[in-house]
Amino acid sequence: MLKRLEELQEEGRRRIGEVNNLAELKEISVFYLGKKGALTTLLRSLGSVTPEERPEIGKKANLLREELERRIRTKEQLIKDELTADQWEREKIDVTLPGRPVRIGSKHPLTITMEAIKDIFYGLGFQVVYGPDIESDYYNFTALNIPPDHPARDMQDSFYFNEEFLLRAHTSPVQIRTMEKLFPQLPVRIIAPGKAFRRDDDITHSPMFHQVEGLFIDKNISFADLKGTLLLFAREMFGPEQDIRLRPSYFPFTEPSAEVDIKCIKCRGDGCRVCSGSGWLEILGSGMVHPAVLRSGGYDTLGVSGYAFGMGVERIAMLKFGIDDIRHFYNNDRRFLRQF
Ligand code: PHE
Repeated sequence: MLKRLEELQEEGRRRIGEVNNLAELKEISVFYLGKKGALTTLLRSLGSVTPEERPEIGKKANLLREELERRIRTKEQLIKDELTADQWEREKIDVTLPGRPVRIGSKHPLTITMEAIKDIFYGLGFQVVYGPDIESDYYNFTALNIPPDHPARDMQDSFYFNEEFLLRAHTSPVQIRTMEKLFPQLPVRIIAPGKAFRRDDDITHSPMFHQVEGLFIDKNISFADLKGTLLLFAREMFGPEQDIRLRPSYFPFTEPSAEVDIKCIKCRGDGCRVCSGSGWLEILGSGMVHPAVLRSGGYDTLGVSGYAFGMGVERIAMLKFGIDDIRHFYNNDRRFLRQF
């Protein structure tokens, strides 16, 4: 039995020495020290040795149990330490890897266009003012010489909250608000950028869109001032070769009125698909401020005259950047927005 003990010791040391994973170490532990393990079995059969031999064998067997237990514990710690080290190695941060790129945003094409328009009029001494998106019937229509039975205020055209309030159908109400605020100051020279709302929806019309209103009131303002200013605007915006064309038109709040076209930016006036063969593209409505509008703002008493205009920002942006569908502006598709 002593010999068997020595064998177990030798073999145990070797196996514990060689093992390198926790599962096998556990097996070894069970094999020697478990309830049905080799050492336990050996100790159980002590009854079959002589009483003289018993103490010595018992002692050696217990020493061996302690030794194997110790070796297994030590080995277990060693394996665990190695695993942790491995894990560190796998998870450690490589500071030499390139970082994730920060995606830098860009200005929306409508913002770019708005800013360009504002810059041009700043340069001409215009002040920038704003009005509310929700307007009263009075500012949106009546004060602008659009009486209650006028077709322009038809329910078809606007978004009404109730009888009195609606989403403004144009930026022209800011003309009245500005006059009321500044009266009797001269000149009144403002632009009013902002949103407008109409029941329109196709590839060139959106129910929400942007306009920039212009208003200039002073002594001796003439139609020539209007035309000169708009020509300068068109050339600043679309290039020094640009030409404009004024077509007689009608707005209740201007008299006379004109719609203003720029020469087609695609064909330069020859006629193409973009301008439907006419060679010209409409960008704004304008005219001399109607006496009834000056009256609404109080300025009729000062012996002054003025001009006004209202331009569509989407329209200008589409022409400037060659965009063929107005809905691109509102879809927030980064592939589109990145290009500006
Ligand atoms: N308010 C007009 C529109 O929305 C444009 C306009 C503004 C026309 C000022 C004349 C003067 O169509």
